[in-house]
Amino acid sequence: MNDTKRFGVSVPQDLLKKFDEKLEEKMYSNRSEAIRDLIRDFLVKKKWEESDEEVYGSLTLIYDHDKKGISDKLTEIQHEDHTHIVSTMHIHLDKHNCMETMAIKGRPQDIRKIADRLKSTKGVKHGKLMMTSV
Ligand code: NI
Repeated sequence: MNDTKRFGVSVPQDLLKKFDEKLEEKMYSNRSEAIRDLIRDFLVKKKWEESDEEVYGSLTLIYDHDKKGISDKLTEIQHEDHTHIVSTMHIHLDKHNCMETMAIKGRPQDIRKIADRLKSTKGVKHGKLMMTSV
């Protein structure tokens, strides 16, 4: 790293304290290493979002299957977008909760739209879209 550049960053004290605590948990040896990772993450995310090429994402949803009609609704949306949804894995977490993970391919804006639609379905407790770029 002979072309490394140093720069100063102003951060509120309490924010830095929380950050340092997390660094220890994540086994980072120093702040620079953690910040480099954050910058790389940010750039990958940007590249992914701005791309017009076909990319891949994975969406994980947690939902309560006791909620009337939710399983049917989620399946219906996936059928409507079957050209983008590559695969779905369903896991029965406990008596009430289900986890569904979907592999989605397409343009980033299409993937984002499908993910938002699924995440905002009534009864979905948590949804997270993971983005990736090759
Ligand atoms: Ni289930």
